[in-house]
Amino acid sequence: MREWTREKRLRTRSENGTLGLGEIMTELLVAPKLVVLRGDLGMGKTTLVRGMAAALGADASEVTSPTFTLVHEYRGRKTRLIHLDLYRLENEAEVETTGLWEMADAGDALVMVEWGEKFASVMERADAVVSMEQGEVENERLLHVVWR
Ligand SMILES: Nc1ncnc2c1ncn2[C@@H]1O[C@H](COP(=O)(O)OP(=O)(O)O)[C@@H](O)[C@H]1O
Ligand SMILES: [Mg+2]
Repeated sequence: MREWTREKRLRTRSENGTLGLGEIMTELLVAPKLVVLRGDLGMGKTTLVRGMAAALGADASEVTSPTFTLVHEYRGRKTRLIHLDLYRLENEAEVETTGLWEMADAGDALVMVEWGEKFASVMERADAVVSMEQGEVENERLLHVVWR
């Protein structure tokens, strides 16, 4: 696999702070990109995507977890923000059927994929990985972004 050539570490101490980091994400990660979004439950993955939607000019109030729906799409001014959750998928053939590759190839799509690390094909194709983890204090979250 190709190596990551760039990285950035960010820290937030509140839900609003994470929303704000969404804007920074859209500056670092410009469409077209396939981004693997990692982090335990409650780390703020959906919140980050909500902040990204707002920054791209989409309706951030529509942003919810795609856990049960597999894929959500939000229309920004210039960019389509697509949020997928592959948790329920079991094999590469199922990944094929999501349309993920077509989405990633579309010039206007910023594709954020949860549980993408389960699939070698997704990691191979990923342009970036965003990891969110708990910081030292309650509402603190540490973000690590790597990209090519
Ligand atoms: N710094 C923070 N960033 C984001 N959410 C936070 C933060 N601190 C506390 N929270 C809380 O954690 C939860 C994060 O939820 P969510 O974004 O749905 O996480 P995930 O999608 O990773 O499961 C929210 O209830 C939010 O209020
Ligand atoms: Mg979520």
